[in-house]
Amino acid sequence: MKGVVLAGGLGTRLNPLTKITNKHLLPIYQKPMIFYPIEMLVQAGIKEVLIVTGGNNAGDFLRLIGNGKQFGLRHLEYTYQEGEGGIADALSLAEDFVDGHKFTVVLGDNLLEKGIRHGVEAFQNQPEGARIFLKEVDHPWEYGIATVEGKRITQIIEKPKDPASNLAVIGVYMYPADVFDFIKGLEPSARGELEITDVNNRYIAQGTMQYDLVDGWWMDAGENAEALLMANLTVARMEGVAI
Ligand code: DAU
Repeated sequence: MKGVVLAGGLGTRLNPLTKITNKHLLPIYQKPMIFYPIEMLVQAGIKEVLIVTGGNNAGDFLRLIGNGKQFGLRHLEYTYQEGEGGIADALSLAEDFVDGHKFTVVLGDNLLEKGIRHGVEAFQNQPEGARIFLKEVDHPWEYGIATVEGKRITQIIEKPKDPASNLAVIGVYMYPADVFDFIKGLEPSARGELEITDVNNRYIAQGTMQYDLVDGWWMDAGENAEALLMANLTVARMEGVAI
């Protein structure tokens, strides 16, 4: 299976940290943030990766990651998102790379304690549709939030004012190649973006969305300065640093 890392966007919520570099190149303990999603894909057996980047510092990704050999990648490609049109807009740039096959997408600021291998394996055996991961969170209004009835997701609402649950849709998505047809039919949301939540709701309406619950911690390290600090502390402690 192929993998896509989305590292576009301007990261304005982290200004001034992101004034002269891309959010995904900021440090999480001893490594740049983007190393974690790349390593997560490799640990799940994914060796062909596309990085979608953007903004003013796109060239720094090539200097840092090169051909991906240091991660054990067999093939690495890069592409560039103009502007900040949303997660689904960034994903639309992966259509040729994916070339008609199923694939896994990871947001470049998402870190998981125990990786995604079990979900990726389940998706390999899934006959149709898409697959996502859910995790219980304390601040559900900051995420895409799922309503679940047993093994079925009935709806996802992006950053709800009045959340129906505390089950967040994390930034790891598994799709068949027809996702690009769905993206072509999307309209920008109120915040001017093509929303990944709208894409996921199409699979829910079709009855073909499945999910796994995240085992261990999950972090959206690029959410704000507090999340970035917490990600640094959590990873450092896991590495045995006494702080
Ligand atoms: O982290 C999980 C959450 O990610 C989900 O619960 C939400 O449903 C989903 O919309 C998303 O919410 P955020 O508000 O956290 O997304 P953010 O704008 O921070 O973008 C997350 C990553 O997506 C970012 O690190 C890079 C990539 N991205 C984002 C945008 C807006 C792009 O590559 N291009 C873009 O235009």
